[in-house]
Amino acid sequence: MSKSLKNAVVFITGASSGIGAATAAEFAKQGARLLLCARRVDLLRAMEPDLIEAGAAEVFSFNLDVRDRDEVEGTIATLSDAWGQIDVLVNNAGLSRGLTKLYEDDVENWEEMIDTNVKGLLYVTRAVVPGMVKRGHGHIINLGSIAGHIAYPGGHVYCGTKAAERLITDGLRIDLNGTPLRVTSIDPGMVETEFSNVRFRGDEARATKVYEGVVPLSAEDIAETIVWAATRPEHVMIQTVVLTPTAQANPYVLKRQTVEGRQ
Ligand SMILES: NC(=O)c1ccc[n+]([C@@H]2O[C@H](COP(=O)([O-])OP(=O)(O)OC[C@H]3O[C@@H](n4cnc5c(N)ncnc54)[C@H](OP(=O)(O)O)[C@@H]3O)[C@@H](O)[C@H]2O)c1
Repeated sequence: MSKSLKNAVVFITGASSGIGAATAAEFAKQGARLLLCARRVDLLRAMEPDLIEAGAAEVFSFNLDVRDRDEVEGTIATLSDAWGQIDVLVNNAGLSRGLTKLYEDDVENWEEMIDTNVKGLLYVTRAVVPGMVKRGHGHIINLGSIAGHIAYPGGHVYCGTKAAERLITDGLRIDLNGTPLRVTSIDPGMVETEFSNVRFRGDEARATKVYEGVVPLSAEDIAETIVWAATRPEHVMIQTVVLTPTAQANPYVLKRQTVEGRQ
């Protein structure tokens, strides 16, 4: 029987767009209490009425840059009792920057990806998991990527951050073995979100080209998978889910169709 998430506190980082926003909407349907953060808190606030309408028991949104260790520790430590008892943590905040060859790339791109995708995930995890261990209850769901399994041209550091996520997730699972906590990595292929827009710093034409001739995964496809993992019975731990568009075999083997259905 699936696990009920009614009134469960679900904390989603990077909930202002894409997978994070869709995941908030999917957990809302389960009647969860949603704790949402991102830097664009105005977007989070604007989502609140729809989330309540969709069934969320309550929503609390706040501004958080996961790269800021003091801010992460301080904000999570000062959550009220009602919000601080987090049942499900979705470490989703993340980004890629550029597709330039490593030896020609801007070092600041690397720092932003490592600080967000690796260090940000670690800061949030370090702040949330001790409470879960103490309460003997909790599920950590991290957003990985097929980029963490196999590198692609120009992907170097982004792929490295997602490979780090994969092994950090495995390591955390080992450290929590013997507790009732569960640890999951969701590793998607191509998902159409703001991701490419962020990668190409607002170059819409370039971002749109990424999805040309392919039916990509949607943010909702990932959100449904996350909620499926979170609603398995307590004795079932989904360790890793790798999902891609049917047209995608790996990060760079992708069958694109022209409008006429021919290559
Ligand atoms: N799209 C894909 O093809 C794909 C494939 C595999 C894995 N993923 C992973 O899925 C996750 C979500 O990406 P997405 O595709 O949904 O992209 P997206 O639409 O660009 O969403 C990224 C989210 O992360 C937040 N974020 C970024 N930096 C942050 C920071 N420093 N502090 C707090 N929040 C931050 C953004 O919010 P603010 O800008 O408001 O802070 C936004 O809500 C990422 O970890 C990504 O690596 C994506």
